[in-house]
Amino acid sequence: MIDLLIWLILAIILVTLWLNYRQHNVPWKNHSVDISKFCFPRDFLWGAATAAYQVEGGCDHNDWSVWENSYDEHARPRIKNGAKAGLAADHWNRYRQDIELLQQLGCNAYRFSIEWSKVSPQPGVWDQRALDHYLEKCIYLKEKKITPFVTLHHFTIPLWLDEKGGFETPDAVNYFTDYTAKVAETLGAYVDFWATFNEPVIYAVMGWQKGLFPPGKKDLYLTAQVLYHLLKAHFQAFQTIHEIDSQDADADGIPCQVGIVKSLLIFDPARKWWLPDWLAAGLIDQRMNQAVLEAFHTDRFRFYLGKMGYYRRSIPGLSETLDWFGLNYYTQILCRLNFHSESNVRQSANPHLAKTDMDWAIYPAGMYRALNRIKSYGVPIYITENGIATQDDELRRNFILEHVDAVHEALLDKINIKGYFYWSLLDNFEWAEGFDRRFGLYHVDYSTQVRTLKKGAEVYQEIIQSLA
Ligand code: GAL
Repeated sequence: MIDLLIWLILAIILVTLWLNYRQHNVPWKNHSVDISKFCFPRDFLWGAATAAYQVEGGCDHNDWSVWENSYDEHARPRIKNGAKAGLAADHWNRYRQDIELLQQLGCNAYRFSIEWSKVSPQPGVWDQRALDHYLEKCIYLKEKKITPFVTLHHFTIPLWLDEKGGFETPDAVNYFTDYTAKVAETLGAYVDFWATFNEPVIYAVMGWQKGLFPPGKKDLYLTAQVLYHLLKAHFQAFQTIHEIDSQDADADGIPCQVGIVKSLLIFDPARKWWLPDWLAAGLIDQRMNQAVLEAFHTDRFRFYLGKMGYYRRSIPGLSETLDWFGLNYYTQILCRLNFHSESNVRQSANPHLAKTDMDWAIYPAGMYRALNRIKSYGVPIYITENGIATQDDELRRNFILEHVDAVHEALLDKINIKGYFYWSLLDNFEWAEGFDRRFGLYHVDYSTQVRTLKKGAEVYQEIIQSLA
């Protein structure tokens, strides 16, 4: 008995040592950043990102437009301060000016999304005016020599699809494929880079596990089911775009490249020498990161359902459907095993790190770690989002410098990174947080729609221009 106990303690010590060693094996240290030492490839894409609902305005036929007018179980508005997206940054009408702002920074790429509910107000009905709008936007980008990265789904669905059960139902997969086909036919001549879904896991977890996004459910099984349907929809959209988009917009010999945008949160144990915290971090990581990452390697989707075990489905061929990988990186989260918390894990920000207005810890090493984690796909990586909500110019400046530096370090290690998009070009409607979380490079005065470059954002311009 004593022997067994000794062996057990020894095993725990060894496993904990190994886990710590593995984490610290990442050779990235804090150091002062020197822009003049940056060496990025000449064809590197420097851009900024937006999403339709957050900036366009006039998106009043999607699930969010209903959601922001509804109340939770305590009769509180769903969005902080009862905010509504409304006109947002009026990007629908001001996109030309906004593209010029992007150009003034020296950017050569723009990531934006198509609002599905505008393009298809009813099932099988296409709004030509909306399609033309996006076409004109792409033509204007071409004129300005800015490469478009088009996201087909960025958190919103048309109201009619929401009423049919959205991505809870397998039908959504075919509806998404039809929509993809229509957009690819319309924009194919101008667009080579397509992202099917933005952050499928965040979308499923916020809408079906945490209930903070529409449809506001709290059901882990449905969360997994939605994710499975999103991956299937990605698979079908990948084939569809490759069938339809045979026009090479940028004349590089490749008519289209299809990827998915995945957020990677870094989950670390709150107490590095306490094995249960490693377990907690591992459990959350399985759901938020590993389930989807693994599916793109193995064609098997496995999502941890707690007491119910695993949700398992296979998607044959999924691993062949990444021409590029879109990484969204924002922060690190510390985890503790705690039986009174949701999913038995208490999540918190590292108290020793500076925080953004989202209360997210600023952790540039996480960018480097995330890039290392996804390099195994062997496809080009684009950082499709990275940014900070803050009113503090110094903090924004340092955030940009340190994160671009982490990307640079990864490039020096020969990781195949092809572009970086700051989130976001403009201040915008930050989902459940409403308007007061300001991520933009440009400040937006919502009463006049005047845009002003933030002091803290000038460093982005400096970086890009120093490399020209
Ligand atoms: C991402 C999302 C963006 C934006 C950003 C900042 O998860 O794709 O739409 O909201 O976070 O929170």
